[in-house]
Amino acid sequence: MVAKVAPGDGIRAMELEDVDAVLAIESATQLTPWSSAHFRDCLSNANYLCQVATVDDDPVAFLILSRILDETHVLNIAVAPAWQRRGIARRLLQQALDAARADAMTVVYLEVRESNQSAQALYRQLGFETCGVRKNYYRKGEGHENAVLMQCLLSGGHK
Ligand SMILES: CC(C)(COP(=O)(O)OP(=O)(O)OC[C@H]1O[C@@H](n2cnc3c(N)ncnc32)[C@H](O)[C@@H]1OP(=O)(O)O)[C@@H](O)C(=O)NCCC(=O)NCCS
Repeated sequence: MVAKVAPGDGIRAMELEDVDAVLAIESATQLTPWSSAHFRDCLSNANYLCQVATVDDDPVAFLILSRILDETHVLNIAVAPAWQRRGIARRLLQQALDAARADAMTVVYLEVRESNQSAQALYRQLGFETCGVRKNYYRKGEGHENAVLMQCLLSGGHK
């Protein structure tokens, strides 16, 4: 039977002790995974918000945002393969969008691989729209892949 993630299962701040678990999720899900040092740098940066979604307090997903002035940038998000397609990423992002709105942020930006249709569907579901393309932004095998730039306007305003 597929275990459900109950609404009470946690979203909390990422801690240094979580980095090994987060790195395992990253390595299992990303084509060009971030290093342990990268995650540690994020944790020590006051402008970054690093969160994990947990089941029995074990991280099963993470979200990393930077917040500068009225802009939030989604820098990384991943869900462990065994826990995908249960609404965890949607919940992490929805909570981040609600918090950004509450803090009077006006826009959330992110980049996503052109081929990553599942992530793009997730973002569109949450109100993101495509606003540009960065050519050859990501490494892919021997070559490169475009990034689709997406934005979610929080207050109906224009940047
Ligand atoms: C993209 C990712 C974060 C989604 O996490 P998730 O917890 O499985 O997503 P959710 O269950 O919250 O899905 C929300 C919506 O996203 C879309 N979606 C998610 N996974 C999908 C898939 N494999 N195929 C198609 N659509 C998908 C669907 O619209 C889904 O809504 P639905 O289940 O009601 O149809 C996850 O697949 C992942 O970690 N991928 C590898 C890392 C990655 O690509 N990160 C994004 C980098 S920009």
